[in-house]
Amino acid sequence: MEKKVRFGLIGVGKIAPIHAEAIRSAQGGELVAVAGRREDKVKAFAETYKIDGYTDYKEMLKRDDIDVMVITTPSGTHADIGIDVAKARKHIMVEKPMDITLEKADKLIHSCEEAGVKLSVIFQLRFMEESRRAKALIEEGILGKVVLGDGYLKFHRSPEYYRDGGWRGTWEMDGGAALMNQGIHGIDLLQWLMGPVKSVYALTKTLVHDIHAEDTAAALLNFENGAIGVIEGTTSIYPDLCQVIQIQGSKGALSLKGTEVPKITFLETMCGRSERVTDEWADDLGEGHRLQMEDMISAILEDRAPTIDGYEGRKALEIVLAIYESGRRGQPVELSLKTS
Ligand SMILES: NC(=O)c1ccc[n+]([C@@H]2O[C@H](COP(=O)([O-])OP(=O)(O)OC[C@H]3O[C@@H](n4cnc5c(N)ncnc54)[C@H](OP(=O)(O)O)[C@@H]3O)[C@@H](O)[C@H]2O)c1
Repeated sequence: MEKKVRFGLIGVGKIAPIHAEAIRSAQGGELVAVAGRREDKVKAFAETYKIDGYTDYKEMLKRDDIDVMVITTPSGTHADIGIDVAKARKHIMVEKPMDITLEKADKLIHSCEEAGVKLSVIFQLRFMEESRRAKALIEEGILGKVVLGDGYLKFHRSPEYYRDGGWRGTWEMDGGAALMNQGIHGIDLLQWLMGPVKSVYALTKTLVHDIHAEDTAAALLNFENGAIGVIEGTTSIYPDLCQVIQIQGSKGALSLKGTEVPKITFLETMCGRSERVTDEWADDLGEGHRLQMEDMISAILEDRAPTIDGYEGRKALEIVLAIYESGRRGQPVELSLKTS
């Protein structure tokens, strides 16, 4: 029989069922246990998925039949929990952002290296077919010299979203708001498509929500390859305008739209390749998570690094933190990119 990679899940909140379904549908994966803090929630979740439940994740870590722990707790807990998981010699899949400071992100990376376990940071949009097509088109040079790379990350979130979450929109546990929680997906896609960001110059504000962190931000980006870009991110507007990434070059342009299932909605090049499809989007949460689970499963079976390892995962975090720093200082901020 095919050897299954066995998963445990830490955190039983909003995103946890997406992970449970993704693991169940991933080829070669099996979900065997879950851990949370509240007994009623853990019990209900464990019953739904017919798995074991724990109210202390450290008890679950004692099991020697679990290969990977998936961390879906609030962002500011990721590194601390991840370090415990690494010490228990389990591989880790951690939700974005990998934590809310670079210091904690680096501690997590180093703990995984020391323990010899794999670390995968969830940015599921990179695994979607159309995101990969956009990346291939740019690498093929079909857009010519890339000139502009923009991320419009304009979402609606209700007051209840922040009020009921408790940790959301707090500097202590969310590490920010509109960019650190929602916008970071598009920021990761943008830097993956465009290459590293050298410096940022930003304005950040809290305009609508009753939170301490920013609900609206704009930043000018200076990419290492010489291109220029902008990021506009918010959770304060109505209606939700979704996530749009636009890349324009000397010979063509493309636009990638969608929060969960990005689609190329516009492509026009001098060499005659052109597509204009509807601007509407329909999102199906979960497909990207499944694809990233399958990447982790094959990374374990083939003993290779997962596609988005800790170093890949920290890139978008560094950009968000530089934007916040620039917003605070009112000055441009240079990034000091680490690649290994
Ligand atoms: N990739 C994506 O598209 C995506 C989408 C949504 C969220 N996320 C990420 O997923 C993470 C969780 O978000 P969410 O919306 O699911 O949050 P949530 O609904 O608040 O759920 C968080 C869960 O973690 C538990 N928890 C909190 N602190 C803990 C601790 N110290 N130890 C153990 N468990 C703890 C909570 O328990 P209680 O119930 O006791 O509070 C709750 O079960 C965040 O990092 C977020 O950025 C990613």
